[in-house]
Amino acid sequence: MVRYSKLPFRELVRRYNCDIVYTPMILADVFASSNYARECEFSTNILDDPVVIQFAASNGLDLANAAELAAPFVSGIDINCGCPQKWAIQEKIGSHLMSDPETVRDMVRQVKARVDVPCSIKIRIHRDLRETEEFVKRALSVGVDFITVHGRTRRQKSTEPVSLEGMKLVKEVSTVPVLANGDVFTMQDANDIVAATGVDGTMSARGILENPALYAGHTVTPWECIEDYVDLALSYGTNAFIFHHHLMYMFEKSMSNAEKRTFNSLTTTPAILDYLEEHYGLDIARKRVERAEQKLNRNTNNNVDITS
Ligand SMILES: Cc1cc2nc3c(=O)[nH]c(=O)nc-3n(C[C@H](O)[C@H](O)[C@H](O)COP(=O)(O)O)c2cc1C
Repeated sequence: MVRYSKLPFRELVRRYNCDIVYTPMILADVFASSNYARECEFSTNILDDPVVIQFAASNGLDLANAAELAAPFVSGIDINCGCPQKWAIQEKIGSHLMSDPETVRDMVRQVKARVDVPCSIKIRIHRDLRETEEFVKRALSVGVDFITVHGRTRRQKSTEPVSLEGMKLVKEVSTVPVLANGDVFTMQDANDIVAATGVDGTMSARGILENPALYAGHTVTPWECIEDYVDLALSYGTNAFIFHHHLMYMFEKSMSNAEKRTFNSLTTTPAILDYLEEHYGLDIARKRVERAEQKLNRNTNNNVDITS
């Protein structure tokens, strides 16, 4: 997710049962040509595994150049064929690609020729599902490794219901794993979509922003998860705007409107931390001691006693 699925948030959702995480969409041509852009857009570490890097590109060469630089650090390269924004369509990236299956085919082909990590596509559906079937078959013909399908057309708003029929069709015609995306806000939603469509897994965006513990079965973001996020964001260093917005999403269901008015108007990280300490008992020092103890216990339990 643009702005949001950066390293601290990826580590957070992993702690709460997410199996695969994606970077925000990154422009492939900029990534390939600028060291500065690479440093700003993508950071990772040994815990960030498996991670899929998602690129937006308008042609196979830009994409393969970016994929080659990223490949040693990631478990997959994903092609964004879903971004509906006007600027993206003008640049012939994102959901524009849903009307250009031949370019997508070429992109997959070029990535697979240059790097040895899986290459996936994140698509939307067409109004006429026969076009979606044709699109998917073309990508499969050049060895796409898995597919995520957002069950809406490029013109549909996210308030409209997703098409289970479209997701099911993509799964039925695919010979590779398919993940369904759209309207997963709880584990129940995820299970219902899997039951209705037969897909191999689900992807959540707005749901997991609001509740990063969604895939651990929580229906409302537990306080512990918020505390974990604060700890991770501070440890890695996070821009105050993004830090604040993550917290606003996470408190969406639990804060009263009066509280939100105060909390949402804060502008600096120290002010946010003061608010959380005062109103929620945030105690990062205690959190860090607890985590260190847990780690120590894990290491002690993993030791083999060679004298016995
Ligand atoms: C804040 C935000 C950022 C997003 N950024 C991306 C992105 O970088 N790449 C992408 O493929 N989709 C992106 N999306 C779209 C989501 O991946 C997803 O397709 C869409 O929100 C529908 O799923 P949902 O109902 O789980 O939100 C973004 C959505 C949101 C709300």
